[in-house]
Amino acid sequence: MSLLSFSWCMLVVVVVVVVVVGGFDDQTVLLQNAADKNVSMPVIGIGTGGYASNNTSPHGEYWNDSVAEIAISNWLKLGGRRIDTANSYNDQVGIGKAIRESGIPREKIFITSKVGPGQGSNRSIPSGALGYNDTLTQMDYTLSSLNVTYVDLLLVHWPYDPTHPPTTDPLCRGNTSQEMKACRQSTWKAMQLLFQRNKTRAIGVSNFEIKHLQDILDMGEAIPSVNQCEFHPYFHEFDLVDFCKKHKIVFNGYAPLGTPDWAPWSHKWNSSIGDLPLVKSIAAAHQKSSAQVLLRYSLQQDVVVNPRSWNNDHMKENLNVLDFKLTDEEMKMLNNIPRPKNSKVCPDPAKYP
Ligand SMILES: NC(=O)c1ccc[n+]([C@@H]2O[C@H](COP(=O)([O-])OP(=O)(O)OC[C@H]3O[C@@H](n4cnc5c(N)ncnc54)[C@H](OP(=O)(O)O)[C@@H]3O)[C@@H](O)[C@H]2O)c1
Repeated sequence: MSLLSFSWCMLVVVVVVVVVVGGFDDQTVLLQNAADKNVSMPVIGIGTGGYASNNTSPHGEYWNDSVAEIAISNWLKLGGRRIDTANSYNDQVGIGKAIRESGIPREKIFITSKVGPGQGSNRSIPSGALGYNDTLTQMDYTLSSLNVTYVDLLLVHWPYDPTHPPTTDPLCRGNTSQEMKACRQSTWKAMQLLFQRNKTRAIGVSNFEIKHLQDILDMGEAIPSVNQCEFHPYFHEFDLVDFCKKHKIVFNGYAPLGTPDWAPWSHKWNSSIGDLPLVKSIAAAHQKSSAQVLLRYSLQQDVVVNPRSWNNDHMKENLNVLDFKLTDEEMKMLNNIPRPKNSKVCPDPAKYP
C-alpha cells in the first residue's frame, strides 16, 4: 500500500426511536458514550480530505487551505454545519478562517478532526504517530491550525500505521496484536485526557474494526462515541455497523459516494457507483440525483455521512436528502450490487493487527 493511498484514507429517547425505525430522518444524532451532555452531531457533514474536483481545481491537486476556505465558506452559507477534517488533510487553517469569517457562532458549528496516522508523503505536517504524548502534541497542532479552543469530535484516524513514523511512546513500538493493543490503549488514555480538559466535546475512532474496538472496550473506561469507516454500496461491513450499534457508537461512513474522482488514475473503478444504471434508475424514480440516493443508502442504515464537495450545486444536493426514502426493495438492490475487485477505496484496516 502506498503512502499516498494511506493518506486518503472517521435524547436518549430520540436515539432509541432512530435505531428502532432504522435510518436517520432527523438533522442530528445525539452522541452517547464519550461525549459531553447534549452533543448533537449533524447527520450530513462535508468531507475535506481528498482531491479538489477531478484534479481540475485551480487551487491544486488536493484540498488545501485555500480550497477549504472557499468551500467551507460556501458550505456554511448553504446551511451546512458539520465539517470533517484531520491533521493530515492539511486544510485546517483554511477551515478555521472560513468559520471565523462566517460570523456564525462557534457553538453552532460541528468540527470533527483526527489525530494519529493518516498523512501522506506530500504533507508537511507533524508526525501522525500513535501514542500518548504524540496524540497530545497533534491535538495542540490541530487546535492552533483551526484557531479554535476546542473541536466537537476528535478521532484516532487509524488503528495502526504501516509506515511506522517515529513515536515517543515506548508502548507504540511493537507490531504484534498484543503490542498494538497496548499502543491503542495508551493513545486512548491521551484521548480521554483531552476530553477531560475540554479540548474536545467528544472522542471516537476511525477505521477501527471490531478487534480494534475491543482493545478499547477492554480498558473498561470511556467508550468511543463515533467510529468513522468506509461505507458505500461497493464496501460495507454490516457486522461492524451492528457491533457499533450494540455499543451505542455512532457509525460515520466515509467515501459515501465511493470517491468517484479516485477512478481516473487508480483504474480501480470501471465507472463510479453513481453511474450505475440501477442507481440512476432509483434516482429518476425519486426525482433525485445518484449522489442523493447514495447518501440516503447510508442514512437509512443509521450511518452518518460527510460527502466531500467543493461544488455549490453538489453541496446543495447533499444537504437535501432528508425529504425522501428509499424502499426496502431499493435498499436490497443497492446492497446486492455486484462489487468490482478491489472495491475498497482506502486500505483495509482488517489486515492490521
Ligand atoms: N477516516 C478516514 O480514514 C477517511 C478516509 C477517506 C475519507 N474520509 C472522509 O470522508 C470524506 C468523503 O469521502 P471521499 O472524499 O473519499 O469521497 P466521496 O465523498 O465519496 O466523494 C467525493 C467526490 O464526489 C463528488 N461529489 C460530491 N457530491 C456530489 C454530488 N452531489 N454529485 C456528484 N458528485 C458529487 C465530489 O466532487 P465535487 O467536489 O466536484 O463535488 C468528489 O469528487 C473525505 O473527504 C474525508 O473527510 C475519511
